[in-house]
Amino acid sequence: MTPSTDQFAYQQCIAPDCAATFGIEEVLVACPQCGGLIDAAYEWDRLPVPGSLRVLEAQWARRSNPHAFSGVWRFHDLLPFAPVEQCVTVGEGQTLLLPSDGAAEYIGVRPGRLLLQYEGMNPSGSFKDNGMAGAFTHARLVGADRAACASTGNTSASLSLYCSVTRLLKAVIFIGSGKISYGKLSQALDFGALTVQINGDFDDAMARVKEVSQQLGIYLVNSVNPFRLEGQKTIMFRVLEALGWQVPDWIIVPGGNLGNSSAFGKAFHELHQLGLIPRIPRLAVINAAGANTLFDLVHRKGLHWNGGRPCRDAVAQFYAEMDAAGRRASTIASAIEINRPVNLTKCLRALEWCNGVVREVTDQEILDAKARVGAGGLGCEPASAASVAGAKNLVEEGLIDPGEQVVCVLTGHQLKDPTATVAYHTTDQDMFNKVLGSRGVRRAAFANRAVMVPNELDEIVKAIRLYS
Ligand code: F0G
Repeated sequence: MTPSTDQFAYQQCIAPDCAATFGIEEVLVACPQCGGLIDAAYEWDRLPVPGSLRVLEAQWARRSNPHAFSGVWRFHDLLPFAPVEQCVTVGEGQTLLLPSDGAAEYIGVRPGRLLLQYEGMNPSGSFKDNGMAGAFTHARLVGADRAACASTGNTSASLSLYCSVTRLLKAVIFIGSGKISYGKLSQALDFGALTVQINGDFDDAMARVKEVSQQLGIYLVNSVNPFRLEGQKTIMFRVLEALGWQVPDWIIVPGGNLGNSSAFGKAFHELHQLGLIPRIPRLAVINAAGANTLFDLVHRKGLHWNGGRPCRDAVAQFYAEMDAAGRRASTIASAIEINRPVNLTKCLRALEWCNGVVREVTDQEILDAKARVGAGGLGCEPASAASVAGAKNLVEEGLIDPGEQVVCVLTGHQLKDPTATVAYHTTDQDMFNKVLGSRGVRRAAFANRAVMVPNELDEIVKAIRLYS
């Protein structure tokens, strides 16, 4: 009998000085020996790795099979930590890579050179479903009955959806007070999650959920969970698939808790090691200026992977200064309003693997980019547009050439945060000031304002003649 692929999967601490290994059936969010982050790892030489990525595309021919249909599990050969028949799917990953020439013009690259990976098409409306399919599969493997997360909204929406659809686990979600948009909160409430709102922000909720899940033995699905990141690798597999397995020049992604950037780096590193791609694209991680820990640490403190030994003292000192100054994350892009990213070291590793860069963008830049993306028909939430705003700055800087192929990841759907969108386009100055002015946004250069007309036929006809 052929051995099951999960026999060749294990977990490993990412710190090279430690590199401790653990069984796949263990539940770990940090290395018990040194506290480092944990990877899912594979004995690739004992696994049936496809000779070419094109083989995986052939799964499409079997789409009536739910695992072949899933945009995550049709790449099972590249994340084989559980037998495929046990992998959890709710139909995630049916997402598209689409050109947007309006946004290309806005950022300053040639027509056809900007592509948007639209993860808003996932069942819960964000990229998180890719990772949740992975985490749920591992949770099932270890027999968990409850799962928890702290969230700025999308992880909690995704966890709640997977719980209610699969009925495998019960959801417990931790959110900061007043910190999550109604689109996302409404999902968690509707899907029936136990919703714990604490007096604090995401960073507080994250610290608490780690303590609580350990004390109560609840399975943690935040992106410190290595199997979340295995699922998120497939976002990049789908990008490559859509490009006929050609490697783009740039991948640009918003950075919050830094799970995506870490997962993308691992995906490309593994494909390259396995000889499945000839080169690795460059990665740009974009922080919001009001939640820019990664940017500050990399640019102001010179933090880097350093062969797996990033300077811990610099990080500790940075957080101590942050606490002493009472500095809290603050941005209209509430999804990435995070000051203590849990995947910091994995992201540094990804930047190393992908010759990556980190930039920050203001809320004004985010909202203007979001409006340009929306005008092209791909509605996204503010955090997602950070990728496009960052791309624009990188072109202006001259780091991205107008002829290069750029992929920006749109991480979440427009309807996740309608308040931000309406406030940008509104004619109501009070609303604009309250929602956006308070965050330093001064103008809405690309606003599509509603036309106010009295309820009289002549006036309506006149207005339409004037404006259309
Ligand atoms: N974009 C969206 C729409 C998000 O929801 C998040 C993270 C990010 C980007 C950042 O991704 O953490 O991998 O760097 N949202 C988390 C949540 C934190 O709780 O939903 P990251």
